[in-house]
Amino acid sequence: MPNFKVKNIQDLILPCKKEEVEFAWLAENNNVILVYTKLEEENFFLQIKKEKNSFIIKADKHTKPSKIAYLQKALQVFKDSFCKNEDVISESFAFKQNAFIKETPLIAQNFEQLITKIKGRIYIEIGFGSGRHLLYQAKNNPGILVVGVEIYNPAITQVAKLAKAQNLDNILLIQSDARLLLSVLESNSVEKIFLHFPVPWDKKPHRRVITRDFCEECARVLGKNGRFELRTDSYEYFDFTLKQFLYFNTPKFSLRKNEDLEISSKYEDRWKRQNKDIFDLWVWNLDKTSNDIVLDDFDLSDIVFDQNDLILLEKNFKNLTLKEDNFFLHFENLYKAKQGLLLKVAFGAFNKPEHCYFYIDKKINFIFQKPFKIKENLKAIEKLKKVLKFHFDITLFS
Ligand SMILES: C[S@@+](CC[C@H](N)C(=O)[O-])C[C@H]1O[C@@H](n2cnc3c(N)ncnc32)[C@H](O)[C@@H]1O
Repeated sequence: MPNFKVKNIQDLILPCKKEEVEFAWLAENNNVILVYTKLEEENFFLQIKKEKNSFIIKADKHTKPSKIAYLQKALQVFKDSFCKNEDVISESFAFKQNAFIKETPLIAQNFEQLITKIKGRIYIEIGFGSGRHLLYQAKNNPGILVVGVEIYNPAITQVAKLAKAQNLDNILLIQSDARLLLSVLESNSVEKIFLHFPVPWDKKPHRRVITRDFCEECARVLGKNGRFELRTDSYEYFDFTLKQFLYFNTPKFSLRKNEDLEISSKYEDRWKRQNKDIFDLWVWNLDKTSNDIVLDDFDLSDIVFDQNDLILLEKNFKNLTLKEDNFFLHFENLYKAKQGLLLKVAFGAFNKPEHCYFYIDKKINFIFQKPFKIKENLKAIEKLKKVLKFHFDITLFS
């Protein structure tokens, strides 16, 4: 990551704007100064780490700009504005070449981008691996957007390259745990969900993609004739999935064994060579148990702070982690700003943590983007409000 190291930094008199880079305000604790930096449409923190006889300046990991060139420019302007040349100990502004991942429209960098790009008819493929089936579906269904979710990043880059080489533009890939993806999709918006050769996790079934929650989410996002399709070499997984879907009132199933498809994945080829059976389970007509649950927005308006609260928050701040059944909340850092406090928190689902900054003066507000509106994040924010209300004394409300 681009950075430089200096012996001294001159007084940071903010706000300060030069060459389109604005350093607006700062917040600090014993080890770190965060400088709120604006450049075109991007806002991020430059992080100044205090060392014994020097300072290291780089981007804050969780707010860094999407374009590395912005960071390089901000570092350059910061150096020119607040550091003397003779104080510079080392400098590393090397350009990081990951342009393909950043530029291709076939990959969504986060859920927000994914949602804005989703339009019209969609199929979802979970854990697409080498992508043979996903590419096949995209090629044969030009009117449908095939959304692929994969936990393994190299598979995403590889499949995006293959799609580009085949001139397929009806593909959208995202790196995520599939169990979280469905919760951000609109109800009744999906025609098919494919889950082909998932890892069976026979000894750790809680790690399976299929859970009761997941099946309910399938019911919510699948449209009227929408269908879930499992293809697996594991009889246990097939049986387990069937049982999860039997929980619905009037599901319809189609069960098949050893049926050849036009396209065969790498895994399928391997199992066939070993003469293993292959099972297909299609499910549709799922009643929508939780169809119209509308998730509330994050509401921070019902909590207010006076000067005494700020003093107590600063005094009592703890590097605290709270864990509940399906979410966690970790208070990472507290920084002092001119008029208030800056709080850094990690929270949400265990497999998809969010990192957010909050500014606290008379009220509390998100700086940068709000986290995604999934139930784990909503619950974590409600808990956060309680912790702040009781100035980190969790014995008062747990
Ligand atoms: C056994 S491979 C099968 C790949 C491909 N579907 C095929 O048939 O060749 C399982 C794939 O699922 C991915 N995966 C595992 N758990 C996942 C999860 N929770 N969310 C998204 N992808 C997952 C793995 O990275 C891997 O690529």
